Amino acid sequence: MLARGERVLGIDNLNAYYDPALKRDRLATLDGAAFTFLPVEMSDRPALMAALKAHAPRRVIHLAAQAGVRYSFENPQAYVDSNITAFLNLLEWARADGSVQHIVYASSSSVYGGNTKQPFAVGDAVDLPVSLYAATKRADELMAQVYALQFDLRLTGLRYFTVYGPWGRPDMAPLKFARAIFEGRPIEVYGQGDMRRDFTYIDDIARGTVLALDETGHFGSVPHRVYNLGNNHPEPLLRFIDVLEAAVGRPAVRVMQPMQAGDVRETSADIDLTIRDLEWKPTTTIDAGLPRLVDWVRGYYHYDGR
Ligand SMILES: NC(=O)c1ccc[n+]([C@@H]2O[C@H](COP(=O)([O-])OP(=O)(O)OC[C@H]3O[C@@H](n4cnc5c(N)ncnc54)[C@H](O)[C@@H]3O)[C@@H](O)[C@H]2O)c1
Repeated sequence: MLARGERVLGIDNLNAYYDPALKRDRLATLDGAAFTFLPVEMSDRPALMAALKAHAPRRVIHLAAQAGVRYSFENPQAYVDSNITAFLNLLEWARADGSVQHIVYASSSSVYGGNTKQPFAVGDAVDLPVSLYAATKRADELMAQVYALQFDLRLTGLRYFTVYGPWGRPDMAPLKFARAIFEGRPIEVYGQGDMRRDFTYIDDIARGTVLALDETGHFGSVPHRVYNLGNNHPEPLLRFIDVLEAAVGRPAVRVMQPMQAGDVRETSADIDLTIRDLEWKPTTTIDAGLPRLVDWVRGYYHYDGR
């Protein structure tokens, strides 16, 4: 957004779910007069209202959330606060403001939960969440539907499928695995490795998110729509690890583990609707994307000896 000359307000509470130093380092790449950052707790409604009133953004990309499937069994309250209350506060601000043009918000492939039909399509019923994380993301979609219907707010939900790449989340397998392989530590391979994921490269996700924000021609009578942003090419977890090993240049020490509570064995995205409306297609395979992740990991965590 900055590269194409927009003014951007960034909001984040910089919480310690994972090392906030990484969040600050990401922010440090975004300096410049067009970018303002405010450390705001979005579940604090007066604080969020004050920040948004002062800066009056016209378009919003709402990514803030308590992410992570497994952690939702340890700290369920964080999911309700950051995924439901925070989103409600954003919707309430938009409702009161009255001139917000479009809000794009992050949903998740996890809303497909226990569905067995593959690939997952936006029109499928999504009533079988297997984690509280998934339930809160689905709740966001339902809340968005109501606010679009009742208050004529334009809202687009994006169901992201396992995103990876430089600057990624340290609690997710790609980054965790890459670091462990560099350090010669064992990696835990869940589901005995019998899992397939529609790993999606960050630049494809970023491009799709901006396209969704810009492209507003496909709303129906209720101005709310949902798209899958996934790679449309599920990869066996074991092949994913093979490619990672090759990029690091060292073998992984694999420790096979059973499936974890809340995990799903396969995620695969049907992106026909996304291609039709947004003309978006992912272009980065794991063979191209994982080496870029590994290059970033090597530099950021000083595995290159510097
Ligand atoms: N990474 C993936 O594979 C993936 C897949 C599906 C959906 N998503 C969704 O995409 C979005 C971005 O995910 P991510 O991987 O970049 O996660 P992330 O944890 O790196 O980013 C979320 C940010 O939100 C901030 N935040 C959390 N609660 C907040 C609150 N109450 N107030 C203000 N800020 C708060 C966190 O500090 C964090 O920096 C999330 O909504 C996530 O649920 C991600």
